[in-house]
Amino acid sequence: MKIVRFFAFATASLAALLAFPAGAQDTVKIGLILPMTGPFASTGRQIETAVKLYMQQHGTTVAGKKVELIVKDDGGVADTTRRIAQELVLNDKVAFLAGFGLTPLALATAPIATQAKIPMIVMAAATSAITEQSPFVTRTGFTLPQVTQPMAEWAAKNGIKKVVTLVTDYGPGIDAETTFRKVFAAAGGEVVESLRVPLRNPDFAPFLQKVHDLAPNAVFVFVPAGVGSIFMKQFTERGLDKSGIKLLGTGDVTDDDILNDMGDVALGVVTTFHYSAAHPSPANKAYVEAFGKASNGMRPNFHSLGGYDGMALIYHALEATKGSTDGEALMNAMKGYTWESPRGPVAIDPSTREIVQNVYVRKVEKVNGQLWNVEFQTIPAVKDPGKTAK
Ligand code: PHB
Repeated sequence: MKIVRFFAFATASLAALLAFPAGAQDTVKIGLILPMTGPFASTGRQIETAVKLYMQQHGTTVAGKKVELIVKDDGGVADTTRRIAQELVLNDKVAFLAGFGLTPLALATAPIATQAKIPMIVMAAATSAITEQSPFVTRTGFTLPQVTQPMAEWAAKNGIKKVVTLVTDYGPGIDAETTFRKVFAAAGGEVVESLRVPLRNPDFAPFLQKVHDLAPNAVFVFVPAGVGSIFMKQFTERGLDKSGIKLLGTGDVTDDDILNDMGDVALGVVTTFHYSAAHPSPANKAYVEAFGKASNGMRPNFHSLGGYDGMALIYHALEATKGSTDGEALMNAMKGYTWESPRGPVAIDPSTREIVQNVYVRKVEKVNGQLWNVEFQTIPAVKDPGKTAK
């Protein structure tokens, strides 16, 4: 009797093993690749905290499967991201690749997603063209054209006629520059000069001197998350805060992670963006509070939302496929999904796989002794104009 039972068990186990040769059939693995060290470590810290918070709030079982998170540090170096992604696919058999703190890191990984037919959730990198590199890429952060277009429109409507653009010299900066120039000119404004600053070890001083000498009504700035405080420091040192030249930008420059440490020089800076920690909704108040508790008092920034909503999208997709990890089925489940994020209502555009979201016009103000990006205007349901512009 015992032997029969043993045999029945052994056969059933073998059948199960053969049916799921990829192993760990009851576990769905998510490979989260982030810059956890190096100059862009704040992005990794923000996203990791948000992803873990989402899992803590929503549990780790989805559609009967156990969700397992594997976090890897790429140090912000594209060759490392690519190597880690390969290992996660081949050795760990992940069902999702996620993270990607900078554009070059996402671009290096997209071919792997295509080859392996694995969904790749871009949570931070924001150059428009990334989603065009693979049908398996979707994005839960934002794109630079998406948040820049409303800034150029706002500037033109608010009496600003001459602008100098100053951007970090790589994908997202060039997207921001191109969009600003095009939209501002169409609205009757003039970009008198476009300056580009290197990504690694930026020194803004000579560029700010040039801005000073050109004396435009405003300077429009894009720098990636984490770099805003260096920029602001040099902006003050050059005396630009007292020059009458208005500072405009996408919200990357007044990144919530570092805004409070910038000091009063940031007061009055107008930016357009998809997320502010000051967004006045009950969902966001709860998010900011839970995030603070989970991180020793850190304030969530926009990249954290890319992580948090990326997990919402992954959980939804798994529920829709009833736990199947077929890459194409997961991608189909993500297309068109609509949900309520702490940033406001969001959706995945089924044709571009880009996030559709509100963009807010904000101004830095002091509230209860702290600096915040206070929203004062909403442009609803903005798609990535980078796609239609081509
Ligand atoms: C990017 O590399 O695409 C990137 C990084 C940080 C940002 C925006 C874009 O704040």
